[in-house]
Amino acid sequence: MSDKFNDTQSPRVTAAEEKVASEGRRKFLRKGAALTGGAVLAGSAGAQAKDKITDPIEPPRVKQLGRGVVSVPYGKPSKYESHVLRRNVEWLTADTIASISFTPFQDLEGIITPNGLHFERYHSGAVDIDPKDHRMAVHGMVEKPMVFTVEDLKRMPQTSKIHFMECPANGAMEWRGVQMDSMQFTHGMLSCSEWTGVKLTTLMEYLGVSPDATWFYAEGMDGSALQRSIPLPGAKDQFGKPVPDADEIYKDIIVAYAQNGEALRPEQGYPLRLVVPGTEANLSIKYLRRIKFTDKPLVTYQETRHYTDAMPDGRIRQFTLINEANSVVTYPCPDKRLKEKGFHEIRGIAWSGRGKVKRVDVSVDGGRNWHEAELQEPVLSKCLTRFRLPWEWNGEEALVMSRVQDETGYVQPTLQQLKAKRGTNSIYHKNAIQVWKVEKNGEVKNVQVKYV
Ligand code: CO
Repeated sequence: MSDKFNDTQSPRVTAAEEKVASEGRRKFLRKGAALTGGAVLAGSAGAQAKDKITDPIEPPRVKQLGRGVVSVPYGKPSKYESHVLRRNVEWLTADTIASISFTPFQDLEGIITPNGLHFERYHSGAVDIDPKDHRMAVHGMVEKPMVFTVEDLKRMPQTSKIHFMECPANGAMEWRGVQMDSMQFTHGMLSCSEWTGVKLTTLMEYLGVSPDATWFYAEGMDGSALQRSIPLPGAKDQFGKPVPDADEIYKDIIVAYAQNGEALRPEQGYPLRLVVPGTEANLSIKYLRRIKFTDKPLVTYQETRHYTDAMPDGRIRQFTLINEANSVVTYPCPDKRLKEKGFHEIRGIAWSGRGKVKRVDVSVDGGRNWHEAELQEPVLSKCLTRFRLPWEWNGEEALVMSRVQDETGYVQPTLQQLKAKRGTNSIYHKNAIQVWKVEKNGEVKNVQVKYV
């Protein structure tokens, strides 16, 4: 650390800034003391800070003119950020047109996923649709069946909400012990955006949906014609059993045409998609062409062959739609190792398909001791929430993990607890505590621990 700090080529730090920084670090240190039990603190960092203030520092500067306006009419990230990319796992699927790519959370901050990094999931590839030609039919158990253009929908009363979008297969590989040493691949089937469009309930009111309608199904216009049944209050499955959460899910649904301030990207269903907050993202049908109100589920391929959960006793859970509370540490993580001993801010994201995150606890010793992390405002319903906790790393092995509790009181389970309930035949809804093992050399591994 001292080498790097005394380097006069090091950009950006003036003596005055350094003084502020060192004070911040001392405060940070005192907080960190609680976490490490108080040892370690006095020595190196204090002495170092003094050196830094007295060192002459002349940061480099640019001596020629830069690019003019509109030389890049649609802005792009710095070329030095070219490693921040969506990635796929080649062996996971037979083809990239029915596959998934992962969001690089190890390189992201805050809660909004940039549009170009939102994870992709296709069943028949991304398509380019001219919005002038696109139509969305709403029919079935309604007084006035209608066909909407995108412009028609844009004239209707609008809503904008920030919500996460998560594939229920996020973390699926962990069920059977396939452990990717990458946070991008363990948790990157997840993104978070501000979605803008028309609330489903606005459309329902406008078209006069029959009080007897207990389901609707949504269908995409891409080659796979993806179809899913989505419950309304009173929904029962094909065996007559009430569908959990049917009274809640529909309230937040948006027929969206914009994402983070601009039109949806083709990868996200341009020009129209459904957004069903808090639920498995397969419900959030892209390239939306049809909403049909019914009094029973359609029982489609996508809700029988896929997106059901195989239980240990051989039965299958169906219409498990909510993504329960989940969290993960994004720093340190296998993609972002620790480079030196001393102060680090443990950072991560937490979310719940049932509402707001209430608290997040972090452990650095495999769950023996927990420390409440600070939550970054805003804390929104069915939305990513950032958490942070200062940490003094003493250079020894550590088991770093986070555990979220949501506003319903639900506490994120350990993998052992999840396996005890759901067995190991599942693919979907793995929301267990993720353990990162920090090695003495600062490398970080994805581990599963017997008692976690
Ligand atoms: Co499910």
